[in-house]
Amino acid sequence: MRPNMPVLALAALLSLGALGSAAAAEPYREHYPQARIDPARGVDGDIGFSDTLPFWRTEAELERNAKWVGDPHEQWKLNWKFMDLDRVELHPGHLAVDEGEAMAARLGQRSPAFLLCLADGGKDLKGRAAAYPKYDAMLGRIVTVESHIEHCAKTVLNEEIRQGSPANNKLAVYFKSQSAGTPIKVDLGDGKLMESYRRGEKLFYAKTGQLNFACATCHVPGSIMGHKLRGETPTTPFADAAHYPTYRTPVGALESLQERFARCHSQMRTLQLKPGDPAYVDLEVFMTVLSNGYPVSVPSAR
Ligand code: HEC
Repeated sequence: MRPNMPVLALAALLSLGALGSAAAAEPYREHYPQARIDPARGVDGDIGFSDTLPFWRTEAELERNAKWVGDPHEQWKLNWKFMDLDRVELHPGHLAVDEGEAMAARLGQRSPAFLLCLADGGKDLKGRAAAYPKYDAMLGRIVTVESHIEHCAKTVLNEEIRQGSPANNKLAVYFKSQSAGTPIKVDLGDGKLMESYRRGEKLFYAKTGQLNFACATCHVPGSIMGHKLRGETPTTPFADAAHYPTYRTPVGALESLQERFARCHSQMRTLQLKPGDPAYVDLEVFMTVLSNGYPVSVPSAR
């Protein structure tokens, strides 16, 4: 029997149409080969990845490897962790914590409900930052420390304290300092959070921008990681989220994790997004899961 030509043609057209709409929903992207990262291992996933974790995991290890500080070939293996907390003499990050604390107290005087909102109804902020980002069922979205501060300011004080603003960063660094030393424990049991993790993971490997680089092009083994690139050496992404917001010495200001994403995006000649953009929230979830089990390490300086 002869095939029914019009029907075949119609079928071909329909499948072309389906292809066309799929392409419209998701633009063509190349991907950097995916590294094997198991979210359940948290920061221990760096073992078998960059394998630098043993050099910077503890105070004692950092002490032992202090000889590498300033050595252009070895220093990257310390993941800059010697710049956290009190490991360097008093740095302006400490000042920022004090300023954030004073700001929180001032806003709390205006309305005690602001502090209550920050603490999710609890009596203080102790240990709370270690569980962020988390899914808020009432808001129907993932909440970061920075977006939580923005939300509480808006709803309780009717004030804009936008993510990425100096005021938000100061409050965030104070908020997180109340968890300094507490191991990060992002809730992998939450389905919504894991969906966000998977989206963030995908973004990490997706090539974008004029250079067609992915985050992974610089931050996974076998890539530029560990090699000097225009005076800088990209390090492992494990435990990075633990020390943000950080005090950036070269510019004399705090920088949130999502502002750092924007800076890497500008280095890769990719459109920079604003703090709070859903793509950056997903990347923050991905990176914070890679810090699970590692202590919150603010204040820090970079
Ligand atoms: C062209 C190479 C390159 C690309 C691509 C790149 N980065 Fe970076 N990134 C760097 C360098 C260099 C540093 C500074 C050294 C370091 O700490 O790793 C850095 C630092 C970081 C830090 C801060 C680390 C710290 O200890 O404070 C984060 C977080 C980060 N990158 C995330 C990303 C993400 C997410 C992407 C993709 C959106 C990305 N990077 C893409 C080169 C790159």
